[in-house]
Amino acid sequence: MTKPVDKFERVSEIARRRGFFWPSCEIYGGISGFIVFGPLGSILKRKIEDKFRDIFLRRLGLYEIESPVILPERVFKASGHIEHFKEPMVECMNCKRKFRADHLLQEAAGISPMDSERMSLKEIEEAIEENGVRCPECDGELSEPRYFLTMFETTIGPYSDVVGYGRPEAAQGIFVEFRRLYEQARGKLPIGVATIGHALRNEISPRQGPIRLREFTIMDLEFFFDPEEPGCPLLSEVKDEALRLVLAESRLRGSEEPVEVTVKEALEKGYIKMEWQAFFMALAKRFLMELGVPEDKQRFIEKLEWERAHYSVQGFDQEVYLDRWGWTEVSGHNYRTDYDLKCHMEESGVDMKVFKETKEVERTEVSIQPIMARIGPDFKGDAQRVIELLTKVKPEDVEESLKRLGFYNLEGFKILPEHVRIVRRRITERGRRFLPHVIEPSFGSDRLTYVVLEYAYSTKDGRVVMRIPRDLAPVQVAVLPLVSKDGLPEKAREVYSLLIDEGFTAQYDESGSIGRRYARFDEIGTPICITIDYQTLNDDTVTLRDRDTWRQVRTSIKELPQLLRGFFSLKLEFGDLGKPVE
Ligand code: GLY
Repeated sequence: MTKPVDKFERVSEIARRRGFFWPSCEIYGGISGFIVFGPLGSILKRKIEDKFRDIFLRRLGLYEIESPVILPERVFKASGHIEHFKEPMVECMNCKRKFRADHLLQEAAGISPMDSERMSLKEIEEAIEENGVRCPECDGELSEPRYFLTMFETTIGPYSDVVGYGRPEAAQGIFVEFRRLYEQARGKLPIGVATIGHALRNEISPRQGPIRLREFTIMDLEFFFDPEEPGCPLLSEVKDEALRLVLAESRLRGSEEPVEVTVKEALEKGYIKMEWQAFFMALAKRFLMELGVPEDKQRFIEKLEWERAHYSVQGFDQEVYLDRWGWTEVSGHNYRTDYDLKCHMEESGVDMKVFKETKEVERTEVSIQPIMARIGPDFKGDAQRVIELLTKVKPEDVEESLKRLGFYNLEGFKILPEHVRIVRRRITERGRRFLPHVIEPSFGSDRLTYVVLEYAYSTKDGRVVMRIPRDLAPVQVAVLPLVSKDGLPEKAREVYSLLIDEGFTAQYDESGSIGRRYARFDEIGTPICITIDYQTLNDDTVTLRDRDTWRQVRTSIKELPQLLRGFFSLKLEFGDLGKPVE
């Protein structure tokens, strides 16, 4: 029995044929996990990224930077990616194909993601054996599972042993530049910095087209704030926005039923811990609605402890329902605390703390002074080491132990009261030094491009109409002479030039019947077709045809730029563009 053709297949077919996206290197048989965005897809993707810029950056006064895709090993050692960014993998002993072990257990043994994703290698091995899982391609026996680091490793420079990695997220390029960015923000918090750029993940076996890629565009926004002032002053703008949350506690009870709450309720009930996180989640919902995804096809799923990225203390994935893939992540919202800045501060030795002026505060500083006259004779050759170790311990711990036990065990050296002096000093401070905390909303724009196309896909009278939101449409207007004779093409080219000069993305087309041309532009989601007919030659008016309803209105050429500007900036509706054509 043949499988029914689903939306993924239909959209992918149009995408290939009309130039939205297709697998890369097809002439060499393709390579999974890499795609090409064609002429239309590139514009669509860029407009989605620009909408992200508009909603998350321009309107909030936040910044964007570009930073390198390849970063040295130390960055990812510090960030924890080298330790954590790995997936369990098995290899077929016969055909040598490699599979992500947890995914294979889900597909072949029906083990839920919740269970398979937290299994140790040993548990995976046992589950493979108990369920008789074999290679899905050739039925061969599978190897022992092992971890595979899903970052692309390279060396930097010729014959170099300096190891670098392709960034798996753009975020690290922001964290390592934090000091300079903070300086440029004139030392004020909060600040938000985004990067929209390529990221690389060497996925084990990506088989989902634009949904899972090895090279993709990530839109990471790192929002830095003072953890002692975590309130979001913009909350009133989103407080009544309804969010559908699938909470971790429900998931642990086996339910994926979402609770529907306003942003305000989600914070009051403690479902979302940080106000800024709730704020960005509300914006993310609005962003997806502007991309054409209705509310009931979106939800936020709270990550369970073992599903969260290593840097996250609370994380939600925004998911959208897709015909073939079911609930699919389109963005992640993580509270990263000061994890990353702290890691880079420790690895680089560079102070990443910020200083914030406050009212004068008095505090007591406790320190240890070694008494050399006693340490020297008592510890002899180890005296230097003891002094060094004393600089690393907490004076309060030493003091407490000396009081309670009469000695302090310093990594095997017995420190007695006569070896040290505990000194207290009163200090007046005019500020605090601390590491900012970070909320991160992060989107993948390739996946969003697919999402827009799937939600735009519709049929009318048996023909495909891509109802791409008009402010995202790659080709805004088509200019079509009714017939290609009698001076109509010349007049149509005049209209086309006018629209191009006015900044619209337009295409001129005179080939084939007018019906076929309308159909071609409906299929790529062009919101308006402008037809130049015999009446145009008499009165300088044209007809405008609406992609979604096929209704037509008539308007004068001279008013076109202003009307179309209103239409594409969502200030005018189609009916406002002219007189209805009977
Ligand atoms: N920076 C977000 C992520 O790695 O998914």
